[in-house]
Amino acid sequence: MEIKIPLVKPYFDEDELTEIKNVLESGWVSQGPKVKEFENKIKAYLGVKYAIAVTNCTSALHLSLLGLGIKEGDEVLVADYTFPATGHAVLYCRAKPVFIDINPKTYNINPSLIKSKITAKTKAIIPVHTFGQPAEMDEIMGIAQKHDLIVIEDAVCALGAKYKNKYAGTIGDIGCFSFHARKGINTGEGGLVVTNNKNLAEKIRNLAVFGMKTAWEREINNKFIIPEFTEVGYNYKMSDITAAVGVAQFKKLERIIKQKQKLAQYWDEKLEEIEFIQPPYVNNDALHIYQA
Ligand SMILES: Cc1ncc(COP(=O)(O)O)c(C=O)c1O
Repeated sequence: MEIKIPLVKPYFDEDELTEIKNVLESGWVSQGPKVKEFENKIKAYLGVKYAIAVTNCTSALHLSLLGLGIKEGDEVLVADYTFPATGHAVLYCRAKPVFIDINPKTYNINPSLIKSKITAKTKAIIPVHTFGQPAEMDEIMGIAQKHDLIVIEDAVCALGAKYKNKYAGTIGDIGCFSFHARKGINTGEGGLVVTNNKNLAEKIRNLAVFGMKTAWEREINNKFIIPEFTEVGYNYKMSDITAAVGVAQFKKLERIIKQKQKLAQYWDEKLEEIEFIQPPYVNNDALHIYQA
């Protein structure tokens, strides 16, 4: 008998439908108040100052690198066990991704292999919190500080994961999350950048909205301001329809994490019975959230 075990199943119910209906009825379906609500909820949950919702985590990584000034000629150290998007984002900026091998126990970047790859051109490190288990951030931050490098956390799978009681994505200079269908909370496609750096957050907001400086001032001041396009930007905005799903999904985040941890425990116990399979290793410093 063939049994299919799905990699993930979305947890949707009436809540998502009600949120979407409200947005459709409001008439404001592109980026607007629902995006702000979604950003505020995640900001408060993670305890960060700024959150910028975007189209996906690839655009979040791209904007983070641009916002931090990564450019042609720079090198960025990237965990080599990742999805191509992490390296692609570096290439979008015409910089060079330099891949660092992982610790085969955690599947996360191996801090002891980082130093030998640092050159005069190295500007940043992108650790990936693989499958929801945070990378060894103390070691990574120590190296970054010593060599004056920026740390961009690819926390694509790690919303709610913790390293030494700090949320993944909030430890480096900037953190990037995904709400793709396979992720913990799911808006179909979606992404988010978080940081505590005001200038960086403003730059990323502008870049995500066509390089339009006044878009957010107009919202804050509630008055008509002629848009000012100050740089070449992108259309990486999250829509209010997407954010509506995000707001409904966010309420389920802790429940989804607990359910994934329960399933992981179930499979750990079942797989233990098979001699040649080892259940995934969990670092003592990590709160693993088991995302696919
Ligand atoms: C480690 C990693 N980084 C980045 C991405 C890109 O995320 P998104 O699909 O939201 O663009 C993925 C996609 O799964 C990923 O696994």
